[in-house]
Amino acid sequence: MNPRAILVPCALALALACGKPESPGGPKSAGSGPASSGSANLAKLMKDRNLSEADVTAALKTYTPSGRRDEYLLFASGGHSGQLLVIGVPSMRILKYVAVFTPEPWQGYGVGDKGSQEVLKEGYRHGKPITWGDMHHPALSETKGEYDGEFIFVNDKANPRIAVINLKDFVTEQIVESRLIEADHGGAFVTPNTEYVIETSQYAAPLGGAYADLKEYNEKYRGAMTFWRFDRAKRRIIPEESFAIEFPPYMQDLADSGKLTSDGWAFCNSINTERATGGVLEGNPPLESGASQNDMDYLHVVNWRKAAEVAKTKSKVIAGMRVIPLQVAIDEGLLYFVPEPKSPHGLDVTPDGEDLVVGGKLDTHATVFSFRKIQALIAAKKFEAKDPYGVPILSFAEAIRGQVELGLGPLHTAFDGDGNAYTSLFIETKVAKWNVKDLKLVEKISTQYNIGHLVAAEGDTVAPKGKYLVAMNKWALDRFNSVGPLLPQNFQLIDLTGDTNGGKMQLLYDLPIGLGEPHNAQIIKADKIKAWEIYKPVGLDAVTKEKSPFTVEGGKERVERKGNVVDVYMTAIRSHFTPDVVRVKEGDKVRIHLTNLEQAHDATHGFAVNSYNINASLEPGKHTELEFTADRPGVFPMYCTEFCSALHLEMAGYFLVEPKKK
Ligand code: CUA
Repeated sequence: MNPRAILVPCALALALACGKPESPGGPKSAGSGPASSGSANLAKLMKDRNLSEADVTAALKTYTPSGRRDEYLLFASGGHSGQLLVIGVPSMRILKYVAVFTPEPWQGYGVGDKGSQEVLKEGYRHGKPITWGDMHHPALSETKGEYDGEFIFVNDKANPRIAVINLKDFVTEQIVESRLIEADHGGAFVTPNTEYVIETSQYAAPLGGAYADLKEYNEKYRGAMTFWRFDRAKRRIIPEESFAIEFPPYMQDLADSGKLTSDGWAFCNSINTERATGGVLEGNPPLESGASQNDMDYLHVVNWRKAAEVAKTKSKVIAGMRVIPLQVAIDEGLLYFVPEPKSPHGLDVTPDGEDLVVGGKLDTHATVFSFRKIQALIAAKKFEAKDPYGVPILSFAEAIRGQVELGLGPLHTAFDGDGNAYTSLFIETKVAKWNVKDLKLVEKISTQYNIGHLVAAEGDTVAPKGKYLVAMNKWALDRFNSVGPLLPQNFQLIDLTGDTNGGKMQLLYDLPIGLGEPHNAQIIKADKIKAWEIYKPVGLDAVTKEKSPFTVEGGKERVERKGNVVDVYMTAIRSHFTPDVVRVKEGDKVRIHLTNLEQAHDATHGFAVNSYNINASLEPGKHTELEFTADRPGVFPMYCTEFCSALHLEMAGYFLVEPKKK
């Protein structure tokens, strides 16, 4: 054993035992020999860097030596970037940005590669290219309410879309675009066996993309909750087997799926039950005040399992989606409302599926609704009133188990495995820990600053792991070096164990996110992800996950011309492309069928063609199709864009486009 392996922790332990670095008699009297000099060094380091004992504890809890791996993986939305972040916990090392809604050159996503180009095209809005995404809520696939590590789904709020990412290779395989609604927010959330991926509208609009003036808001604008059917064997969402339920034109907000006791049901919050439409220059109150008049909005309670049956016979197709009309949903008992305090935000189902926690936002409480009480009221048909559209409203007092006063601006709630809940307080910029059973506040910890979502290890499942919490803060202010007026977001890792902080939560680490505004995230035990190291067999297509019919074997590289179509069958292996010279004529349609013959771990090549906006990522064994028209004559270097070997710079060639004869 390396003696330093003993020496270092020993020295740290001594330093920690001695208290503050400047405290007298600490390291000096702590012992003799190597440990003594080690602890003296450490005390000096702490002093030089102005680190407290708590800082060193936090460092020890997050520092991950080279070569060691993280216990958990955090999948976080990349906000405006339209990409998904993968971050190790507790090290908070960023491992990957997965390209989803936006072209991403390193992964060759949407930069000449036909497969990814077609995935991006699925997400075009009415055929119009969309080159960004407002990603909000990633949802890991579940089996029996636990993360299974196979897929992750994400939503785009701006252009209502859901993407499917395969966690075998962290590649986006599908994007579905909803033409029914115009914006989503309550998504992506999965049912406990990933039968459906839920996407709920936010801003009401005429369903299916029709036009109606705001004067007709009450009659013609609507919301909807969509249940996208996921076929695990096919690894795809099947739009034809999906359905939606029409909602009144409130702003539906965050949603969650029931589990265990509440399996088969889904829930979402609403705001703007006032149905304000803004119009300040037309003599109306601004939307924000018009939408904040009512003391209560409506928690939507949806029987999706029954709705899936009803959709088969009583739905009508709007913009390609089977939609259960609102009146049918009422008549069939698919939709109920429960009043919820003033413009709420987060809705989180407890791990046992018994309760629904709603964050008050403009109310200082988290309200805990009992699923059993709601069911008893529905069974007894005990309705207090109906909303203007005829949806039955249950009694607030009889549907809740209680409320817990937490502080200013409660938003979202995460859970640990010991019966505790953690609610973000946006205005107070704190996390409140409270006990779900007793509805008692336990403690609060400050965050920097203005926390939005928060996530605990597997906290959205039936078996939360606790231990770590990540606060996703909207403001960074003074936390980092100045990088101009646009500041990064701040992810803060919080230790939930309390084992080195007198039982209390402790802030461990700040991770700036300089990419977009992440919203939600989920944390999975890292060993549940069984990702591939290479593509096998050679010739695998990353999107179809099948061997490409155009796979090129070593020795069979060639160029074939049919009319003005040139097929280039090319291979890559350290350190050359074959062929390395390609001659075409101006105006030719060029199809490069490119196989990376490597099977060695991490032997990735890239393939770029100058002036043609092409860069492919060629992971070991991967087959890529590149298609473009050689519309510009000239000499275009093509080269490998990954430093793959000592002769990487020589892994290059020429793409020659001969001009048309005048
Ligand atoms: Cu191949 Cu660099």
